Amino acid sequence: MRNFDENTITDAVIERFAKGSDPRTKQISEALVRHLHNFVREIRPTEEEWAYGVDFLSRTGQKCDDKRQEYILLSDVLGVSMLVDAINHPPMKGVTESTVFGPFYVNDPPQFENGADLSGKLEGEPMYIEGTVSSPDGTRIAGATVDVWHSDGIGNYDVQQLDKIGGFGGRGVLKTNAKGEFSFWTIRPVFYPVPTDGPVGELLRAQGRHPFRPAHVHFMLRAPGHERMVTHVFGKGDKYIDSDAVFGVKDSLIREYIKKPAGTAPDGRKMDKPYFYLDFDFVMRPAAAKKERAPQSKSAPSGSTIAYVPK
Ligand code: BEZ
Ligand code: FE
Repeated sequence: MRNFDENTITDAVIERFAKGSDPRTKQISEALVRHLHNFVREIRPTEEEWAYGVDFLSRTGQKCDDKRQEYILLSDVLGVSMLVDAINHPPMKGVTESTVFGPFYVNDPPQFENGADLSGKLEGEPMYIEGTVSSPDGTRIAGATVDVWHSDGIGNYDVQQLDKIGGFGGRGVLKTNAKGEFSFWTIRPVFYPVPTDGPVGELLRAQGRHPFRPAHVHFMLRAPGHERMVTHVFGKGDKYIDSDAVFGVKDSLIREYIKKPAGTAPDGRKMDKPYFYLDFDFVMRPAAAKKERAPQSKSAPSGSTIAYVPK
């Protein structure tokens, strides 16, 4: 076959992988070529524009290393990460909704007992967080793993300022007690920008968008017999709550970070200055409710445990 034109080239390419043996690979390849060709036919790029696109993707790859994943960030700001999340975690009545994983998780975070202070040397105002973890039938889950991480009161994660603060802060892993409860002290997070010093920052500026995420605390919960839950609790009233740069906000995940006056905190701690209080009860999805998924890749899953940090 030869002499392809603007319209016949698509089927010709698709036909080339008709004999591929794996049906899923065939399905994905066909859809990729169809959508890619339609995209090019729609935008009708000049050769200079196409070269710019290739260069943009090259630089996106060059920005990736073991500490930074610019491709995940690109997927985040284009809403693809949340689309994948929506497909894989459709809402289930009574179950806490999920949201984007983000880049700032660190493998093997420090372990804490309930009631401990996770803040390390982070700057900002104190916040006490407590809650429960249950199954949809209301049974509390004892021994659930509660992984938490968040930014400080200025808008930086610990891993973005390790030189300054000398270690982790605002992150840690706890276990729920026999009543399925967890609690800890930390620093109230505020809104912050996604990394903008790479190609994704260039894209946001070109699209006339701000890079900010509203204040949030990340949670990852694990318990036997339940799906892993990756979610956030967002701060009510944040100025970016309706324009999250990565489209992660869901109404059910918004709570007030309540300002409390100095005095005795819920755990009995005497506070000589005002502090913030957040309460959230999580409901985990039973593993049996998990739908059949496409075959898993052997490489790291999307939302993998890589922390990527602006250099
Ligand atoms: C985060 O919440 O940590 C995050 C999520 C997506 C992109 C950048 C940051
Ligand atoms: Fe975050």
